[in-house]
Amino acid sequence: MNIKIPLSKPTITEEMKDAVLKVLDSSRFVKGPVLEKFESEFSKYCGAKYGVGVSSGTAAIYLALRALDIKSGDEVIVPSLSFIASASPILMVGATPKFVDVDESYCIDINDLKKKISGKTKAIICVHLYGQMCNMDEIMALKEKYGFVLIEDCAQAHGAEFRGKKAGSFGDISAFSFFPSKNMTVCGDGGMAITSDSGLYEKLKMLRDHGRTDKYLHHILSMNFRMSEISAAIGMEQLKHLDEWDAKRREIAKIYNQLLSGKIEKPREFEHRKHVYHLYVIRAKNREELKEYLLKNEIASDVHYPVPIHLQPIFSKYSAPLKNTERFAKEILSLPIYPGLEKKEIEEVCEKVNLYFESEK
Ligand SMILES: Cc1ncc(COP(=O)(O)O)c(C=O)c1O
Repeated sequence: MNIKIPLSKPTITEEMKDAVLKVLDSSRFVKGPVLEKFESEFSKYCGAKYGVGVSSGTAAIYLALRALDIKSGDEVIVPSLSFIASASPILMVGATPKFVDVDESYCIDINDLKKKISGKTKAIICVHLYGQMCNMDEIMALKEKYGFVLIEDCAQAHGAEFRGKKAGSFGDISAFSFFPSKNMTVCGDGGMAITSDSGLYEKLKMLRDHGRTDKYLHHILSMNFRMSEISAAIGMEQLKHLDEWDAKRREIAKIYNQLLSGKIEKPREFEHRKHVYHLYVIRAKNREELKEYLLKNEIASDVHYPVPIHLQPIFSKYSAPLKNTERFAKEILSLPIYPGLEKKEIEEVCEKVNLYFESEK
């Protein structure tokens, strides 16, 4: 099937191409000055002191757990309505995941979180899903009360804010992904763990590079999770456009909100939160039928995510019912959104979605 309007599309500029060529000419491909600059600029943008560029967002979450010494016997609370990588690193370090429900913001349901915190809770991974942050007032108050460590999964929230503070500035360590579909990318796999704690920063750097203390001296068991200079060069150029692109995403969401029929359940923005619309997610009872109908009209859509993590085979041991998560997973549908999406394309998507809802029995 031909796709006229894709779900996402990264913006590539001439400056990005030039930056890549410059790295190629430099012959310095790993552990170089471009990555150092990207780490420093990106962490500063997010309001954290240090950044450690890594090979993916998944690696950033895994290394955050390792640096925070989360291990067997520790419980880690995480929402189930997310990509598998929000939770799989918990099993990788031998800890126990405890799944929490989400509310209408698609982020952690604070009432359910309060029920799930126990004496064994060592960490919470809060996922700022679709581009909107969790209720950080509540989460930080609970952190203060119970003393758990906090990892922010910011893979979908570059530039999002809570009370004017950026995603990534709350956690002990926060993890970002630069996968091609994200609000900014390195045009391949890549990620970053950011922190304001110098001890955690040193540990993260060691963990991403074979647990090295010296070139051939290894005190911590780890592997290679490094980011290349080429990736960092693209990331650095992309970062310069992030605010402009996030603003464009917010504009597109506004047009969707205006043009989509009142019958449709649209994303909601919650108090104190600046949504950066990594995804624009609506709900439909016959979601699969609508997806199929859009595809016939050459419009891409997708489901984030059809199988919640607690219902994944690898997590069957840790599964317990989550009401909202299970209901949302059956109804959610992500519509095309990216900075280059044109007004007439948004209008076309809305026209088709509205037609579908009108014809629905
Ligand atoms: C919420 C969330 N967490 C983690 C990840 C993992 O990032 P990566 O694909 O860069 O490993 C993703 C990426 O899809 C994500 O959406």
